[in-house]
Amino acid sequence: MKPTLEYARACDEADVLRTFRERFAIPTDSSGAQLLYLCGHSLGLMPLAARQLVNQELDDWARLAVLGHEQATRPWIPYHENLAAGLAYLSGARPDEVVAMNSLTVNLHLMLASFYRPSGRRVKILIEAGAFSSDRHAVASQLAWHGRDARTDLIELTPEARSEVISEQAIEDCLKRHGDEIALVLWPGVQFRTGQAFDLARIVSAAHRAGCIAGLDLAHSIGNMPLALHDYAADFAVWCSYKYLNAGPGAIGGCFVHERNISAAPASRLQGWWGHEAATRFRMEPRFAAEAGAAAWQISNPPILSAAPLLASLELFQQARIERLREKSNALSSFLELLLQPLELELITPRAPASRGCQLSIRIPGERSRGRRVLDRLGELGVICDWREPDVIRVAPVPLYNRFAEVFTFSERLTQVLREIP
Ligand SMILES: Cc1ncc(COP(=O)(O)O)c(C=O)c1O
Repeated sequence: MKPTLEYARACDEADVLRTFRERFAIPTDSSGAQLLYLCGHSLGLMPLAARQLVNQELDDWARLAVLGHEQATRPWIPYHENLAAGLAYLSGARPDEVVAMNSLTVNLHLMLASFYRPSGRRVKILIEAGAFSSDRHAVASQLAWHGRDARTDLIELTPEARSEVISEQAIEDCLKRHGDEIALVLWPGVQFRTGQAFDLARIVSAAHRAGCIAGLDLAHSIGNMPLALHDYAADFAVWCSYKYLNAGPGAIGGCFVHERNISAAPASRLQGWWGHEAATRFRMEPRFAAEAGAAAWQISNPPILSAAPLLASLELFQQARIERLREKSNALSSFLELLLQPLELELITPRAPASRGCQLSIRIPGERSRGRRVLDRLGELGVICDWREPDVIRVAPVPLYNRFAEVFTFSERLTQVLREIP
């Protein structure tokens, strides 16, 4: 295979998922030309059907006002139920193990309130060094909430020397050494900066062997690759919906609680009226009776206008099928990797397709200012990708809407820019 534009176009023609692109709004420049959007790892594109579904809610609000809670086209009181099947499909869960609610960090706090229960010697939390700031803030503040100190009770596992990635073996070794002091492991499905995808089944079972609770942050995994949360037996998982799930800025997040943790009803679950069983919620009685499933962790009534776009997007995933998307994603990322080879840049994302998703993280050699100029110049040339400190450009060809020809054009523009900015 020669990595040429002709080859890329042939791949696009042969792509069984090619028509899904037409169902998204592709951003344009001031002259109306389509931008080269490779930033779905940060904010996914808008499914065209999102407008229709949001307008439907606005129309129902205008037409029905408060009556919409029960009489809207999709009544608002049980609105989260519309999302459960699609989220269960993408996360590999049972529909009652998932719920759309809040946003990621809020959900993480709610899960930690239930599942981080330090006791005796087992008080620590294990995360990866360089975790997303919000995750670190959440666990550090939970430690403090329990009267503990992140300086001693937060273990941040660093990558092996001269590497950016953390092997599953290293996680297992850490759990063997320190497992009896660790109450909870919080691990990402895909690391936000490096793009490394982890073997979650292996990490969850290592955590459980060590007697720890296993929680997952799937911000960069859901919609990016198939998941099987129920079978991994993760205790809980949280995610946002604005990246690969294309549900729009600040969209409603999601949460998974394993069935066994639902039936065991945790000692501590923060409560609000929306987690109360729906049948008796409006009796407004002081006694709390939990709704069935993960829905019991809901606190407030859901933001309908930020949930409607998710419904539009989940529908597309169910049609495209996540296995087919994963196959195309592997092909897109491998094509990009091949095209980048002559540029002799360092990819900090693992080479093995099983250990990465859509995103490739490219280290730009030289001063930080050079990297920033490269990113800015790419922007001037109509390429949307992003930057993570101190020196990484993240690029994600997303199989629902990106094309092989776009990956080719990206490599050409990057080649040009690196030549312009030596
Ligand atoms: C890994 C990870 N954790 C947490 C967050 C924060 O999400 P939110 O603002 O929805 O709480 C993000 C957002 O990009 C993320 O990528």
